[in-house]
Formats: sequence, C-alpha cells, structure tokens
Amino acid sequence: MSEFKRVTGTIPAKEAEPRYYKIVPMSADNVDQVAEIERECFSTPWSRQMLQDELENLSASYICAQMEDGTVLGYAGLTVVLDEGYINNIAVRKEYRRMGVAAALLDVFLRFGKANELAFLTLEVRKSNVPAIAMYLKHGFEDVGSRKNYYDDPKEDAILMTHFFKKVEE
Ligand SMILES: CC(C)(COP(=O)(O)OP(=O)(O)OC[C@H]1O[C@@H](n2cnc3c(N)ncnc32)[C@H](O)[C@@H]1OP(=O)(O)O)[C@@H](O)C(=O)NCCC(=O)NCCS
Repeated sequence: MSEFKRVTGTIPAKEAEPRYYKIVPMSADNVDQVAEIERECFSTPWSRQMLQDELENLSASYICAQMEDGTVLGYAGLTVVLDEGYINNIAVRKEYRRMGVAAALLDVFLRFGKANELAFLTLEVRKSNVPAIAMYLKHGFEDVGSRKNYYDDPKEDAILMTHFFKKVEE
C-alpha cells in the first residue's frame, strides 16, 4: 500500500478511504483489460491482437493507470518517430472519468517529451469530442488543422492538436 501512495494518484472512493493507482507499462497481464476499455470507449476499437502486437513495437510505449487490485482504469499509447511524438490512444473507463486519470497518463507523455527533447506531441481527435478537446487544450495542445472525414462510425472530421515543446524559428 505505501509503495502505491508514493507513486502516482488517487481516486475518490465511495468508502471512506481513497483508492490508489499507479502508472505501469501495458503488459501481457493487462492487455485484456485494455482491449475491454477500447470496446467501451470507441466505435472502431483496437482488437486485443492489435494491442498485443504493440507490445513488440519498439517505437511505441503503452501505459496503464492500474489500481492495487489490478483494475486498469485507463490507458494511453505513444509512438515516437525521430523527435516527433504521436499519441495513438488515451481512454478511461466510464466509471472512473473526471478523476484526473487521463491527465495523469498525459502528464507522463508530456514529461517524457520534454525530457527527451521531442519537438512536439500530436494527435487526432473527433471534432465533437468535447471532453478530450478540453483536456488537450488544458494541457497546452493547440488546434493546428483538421482532416476531412477522417473517422468512420459515424463519419466525422478530425481536429489535429499539437503540443509544441519548441517553436520552429522562422
Ligand atoms: C477524454 C477522456 C480520456 C478524459 O478522461 P478523464 O480521466 O475523465 O479526464 P480527467 O479527469 O483527467 O480530466 C482532465 C481534463 O479534461 C477535461 N475534461 C474531461 N472530461 C470532460 C468533460 N466531460 N467535459 C469537459 N471537460 C472535460 C477537463 O479540462 C479536465 O480537467 P478538470 O477536471 O480539472 O476540469 C475520457 O473522457 C475518455 O476516455 N473518453 C473516451 C475516449 C476518448 O474519447 N479518448 C480521446 C481520443 S482522442
């Protein structure tokens, strides 16, 4: 218990005691839960096999917010190409939203990007995804463009959002 207290965050509990989670790498042990979260959160979810394959992808890093009892609250994935970071996914189980879990996951990638001198972190988000857009704006991402009809089920434009660690000199 005390180790969990030191590492990352807490979510409020209905009981008296807050519940602790820490950020851990996605692994063969928690990939089933991550696939479950994908199905809960997206209309075209990544399959278990796609996630499993990502464990072998040396350019990608997947992290989970996991409670002491093993429950994965949410997860996020980042691919790095040269000095560019692409956030592939970030999702939190419905019942654990608005408790700072996604912000804790995003913070890991922001600190990684800064520490490793990436130029930016970037991602696509559905135009109608108000919670995600609000979260990215709050964490220093800017709206830098759009991709027409990028998503299916339902068809929708993507907004491109980027957090720049250093501006390109003109
Ligand atoms: C977007 C998502 C990941 C946010 O997860 P979360 O753990 O609830 O987010 P947090 O509690 O860390 O909130 C961080 C900030 O995001 C914004 N935010 C989150 N949910 C919001 C909502 N429903 N409405 C408005 N702003 C919201 C707020 O600025 C919030 O900060 P605040 O609570 O201090 O106001 C979650 O809603 C989710 O999993 N959605 C489905 C999957 C998805 O759309 N992923 C993004 C794909 S690009």
